[in-house]
Amino acid sequence: MNTCDTVIIGSGPGGYVAAIRCSQLGQNVTLIEKNVIGGTCLNVGCVPSKALLQAGHTYQEILHAEKFGITASGTLDFEKTQVWKNTQVVQKLRSGVTQLLKKNKVNVVFGEAKFTSKSSLSVSFEGKTEDYTFKNLILALGSRPIEIKAAPFGKRIVDSTGLLNIPFLPKTLSVIGAGYIGSELAEAFAAFGTKVTLIEATPGILPGFNTKLSDLVKRNLTKLGVTILTDALVLSSKEDEDKVTLTYKKADQEQTLESDLVLVSVGRRPNTDLININASGIELDPKGFVKVNKKSQSSNPNIYAIGDITAGLALAHKASYEAKIVAEVISGHPSLIDYKAMPAVCYTTPEIATTGKSLEECLALGLKAVATDFPLAANSRAIAASKTEGFVRIISDEKTKLILGAQIAGVSASEIISVVTLAIETGLTLEDIALTIFPHPSVSEAIMDNTEAGLGYPIHI
Ligand code: NAI
Repeated sequence: MNTCDTVIIGSGPGGYVAAIRCSQLGQNVTLIEKNVIGGTCLNVGCVPSKALLQAGHTYQEILHAEKFGITASGTLDFEKTQVWKNTQVVQKLRSGVTQLLKKNKVNVVFGEAKFTSKSSLSVSFEGKTEDYTFKNLILALGSRPIEIKAAPFGKRIVDSTGLLNIPFLPKTLSVIGAGYIGSELAEAFAAFGTKVTLIEATPGILPGFNTKLSDLVKRNLTKLGVTILTDALVLSSKEDEDKVTLTYKKADQEQTLESDLVLVSVGRRPNTDLININASGIELDPKGFVKVNKKSQSSNPNIYAIGDITAGLALAHKASYEAKIVAEVISGHPSLIDYKAMPAVCYTTPEIATTGKSLEECLALGLKAVATDFPLAANSRAIAASKTEGFVRIISDEKTKLILGAQIAGVSASEIISVVTLAIETGLTLEDIALTIFPHPSVSEAIMDNTEAGLGYPIHI
């Protein structure tokens, strides 16, 4: 029996951050991982998908450089792209995290953990099993892709992990589900030259976002050659040696679609069903998420849950934030979770990013809020980059001018959204930003310009 103080299960952006912070705060930490260090985000999620998107964008920029007076031609070696992504991005970051864990004296144990009681686990690795007891446990188990009966995973029907690691470039790809994963990977593969069809059950793509933002993405995907079928439901699939045939229903008509590969990206489910949770005394909600309080503590007071296994969006930065709070709670600090401003980004073209509350959410809460839009077509850096599509929307309190939220579509949206997140966290008003000096020219200036417009004295519009 191994007797431990703080045990963490899962080494994704929730688990490894919790391990490092717990160790920094003086705890003796054991981190258990059944796969490789880094979790979904680093190995088979956010990071490799951004790498493929970057490669696809570079390829498109080479093919369309005429407007800059550049005549260029490009050929793609997708196998080399994959080797670069795997070695220079994923493996590099994984070994970085491994080093960080070592430097912070985290005891890393490889194996699959399962609860044996409310305060003990068994960990199995290569046929051997060891037992562990813990004073405190942080569950950071992550999530996995949802499988649908109409298109079960197979050789040519894959999840995001399968598509990200595909060794060849498919000529045709059907994507079921146009959420974050479906839209980003549809764009990446269309940019490489694959003929992509996006099949979405609801009336629009990226249903979580305001249509003012998602319509811009839809327009660009169409420009890239992606066929978008909305209000379309996949009924069945047939996998052959060299293709997959999907049958789907749209406008009450059944149709078929053939492609080399099918990606199913209809959401993710929490991995709470894989760990003998019944023995732990933890309560789950009907969807399998761990019920937690403001300290991210489960119904077993010695067990905390963070990241994708708790309710809310499955976002790496949400998991890391919760990890740091939980580490402090276990160390006796009076810390609480507060999602005042949770950014969310979809890395499509244009990038779309949100933080804080939308205008609709503010109005539903009875807040007297107003929204101001500033177009990137009036931003000199965006013009110089020939990327003027999009806008910055900032939501503020009508009377106090306190900044409540933002929605940004456009180049660098994933970067400049942090300005507004910081403003919300620190309680800034429109005037505070309007009086801040932003570098010129920069895309972030659109935020300053927006606040001036919100105050009624715009310069650039
Ligand atoms: P999602 O919830 O974002 O989108 C799933 C989509 O599939 C929705 O549009 C839904 O209407 C559609 N759908 C569901 N069932 C369907 C069916 N049978 N036929 C056709 N369409 C159907 O889920 P996704 O894209 O799998 O991503 C999972 C999670 O991963 C997200 O909630 C997100 O938090 C996270 N993620 C975040 C990223 C980021 O931050 N940039 C990138 C990728 C994923």
